[in-house]
Amino acid sequence: MLKNKVIVLGISGGIAAYKAADLASKLVQCGAVVKVVMTWEATQLVQPLTFQALTGNPVVTDMFEPAPLSAITHVSLADEADIIAIVPATANIISKMAAGIADDILTCTVLATKAPIVIAPAMHNNMYINPVTQDNISKLKARGFTVIPAAHGRLASGSIGYGRLPEITEIMGIIQQTLGKKGDLAGKRIVVTAGGTQEAIDPVRYITNNSSGKMGYAVAEAARDRGATVTLITTPTGLSPVAGVDVINIRSAQQMKEAVVKATVKTDALLMVAAVADYMPKTTAAQKIKKGAGGLTLELVKTPDILSEVKGKFIKVGFAAETQDLISNAQKKLTGKGLDIIVANDVSAKGSGFGSETNKVTILKKDGKPEDLPLMSKREVAEKILDNVSKLLKGKK
Ligand SMILES: Cc1cc2nc3c(=O)[nH]c(=O)nc-3n(C[C@H](O)[C@H](O)[C@H](O)COP(=O)(O)O)c2cc1C
Repeated sequence: MLKNKVIVLGISGGIAAYKAADLASKLVQCGAVVKVVMTWEATQLVQPLTFQALTGNPVVTDMFEPAPLSAITHVSLADEADIIAIVPATANIISKMAAGIADDILTCTVLATKAPIVIAPAMHNNMYINPVTQDNISKLKARGFTVIPAAHGRLASGSIGYGRLPEITEIMGIIQQTLGKKGDLAGKRIVVTAGGTQEAIDPVRYITNNSSGKMGYAVAEAARDRGATVTLITTPTGLSPVAGVDVINIRSAQQMKEAVVKATVKTDALLMVAAVADYMPKTTAAQKIKKGAGGLTLELVKTPDILSEVKGKFIKVGFAAETQDLISNAQKKLTGKGLDIIVANDVSAKGSGFGSETNKVTILKKDGKPEDLPLMSKREVAEKILDNVSKLLKGKK
């Protein structure tokens, strides 16, 4: 979580500096305290006032400007930072940091800090792939910097290649992941499934359900931000990809089962948040079924029951999306499938279930009292579920 975290946002003189304004704004909206440090070159591209207005904090651009409280600015920034994020990072600042040069306020702050450092290189393709830049990036990685690889796409010069600043949502995700590296799930492997499976009728049609994937994505993000190594097995959802997790894209229940079996060979917990279809067409037509004179009857057969079939000594968490007899149905699933935890979710309740930003759930456990939670955001629900997973994992040591 970013709330009250001090983020020193370093901005160097790349054309993508304007995108750092969006990042600063989004970090502030998440409750972070953002302190911007700009190189002189960056101030030639975007006005410091923009960042001052967005963050509510003065922007530091000059090492020799007297500090207000007799502190040495770069040292106090280096000390108070929970994390330093340099977005964008020019080829120049990357090479300076790799060489340990400290000739401006940003490079001095970097050299003086013990906080984790994330950089997002952005530059022309030829500058990015130049062996000098790549060597410098490797050096920084070896020293513990987190480097977000530049994206592929249209560059400011008009050419296409690697060198674009990654999406701001991705950068936010990596900042959150880096901040959470020492969380209670550090060193744990967590597999999460998300979305509604698609069971093909023919090459253009399928049967699915209303699952949006939001709950599963929230669980994957929360686990990532508590230090876990996360594998997210997801159906197509239309949601922004979760940065910093290993994503496996699948469509059908059968494909999900195969992916879960593979991913759980080495895992500490499996959270089956996906809405897996109970039935699928017995056969999938090889060609598009043409509209005939009469109706169309589909024969459906049961899909694999992933939770019952996947074996292993890891924590198993299931979801029970119900519209009636919620608790008794969930309880049956908990014992019947040999789960450690089941999250009972009344998907017909107001503000709860598919597509909404919030959820109202009861967490039932193999051992322990049920937790009936009030309506809360899906991220908050995810944290509550992971509190239970974390407790069980501690007990397993
Ligand atoms: C309009 C303009 C855009 C630039 N964009 C980039 C860029 O995207 N990436 C980069 O590495 N350098 C870029 N440069 C070159 C840097 O500004 C130059 O290397 C500068 O010395 C970087 O200083 P700094 O790293 O201290 O901020 C650009 C220069 C100009 C004039």
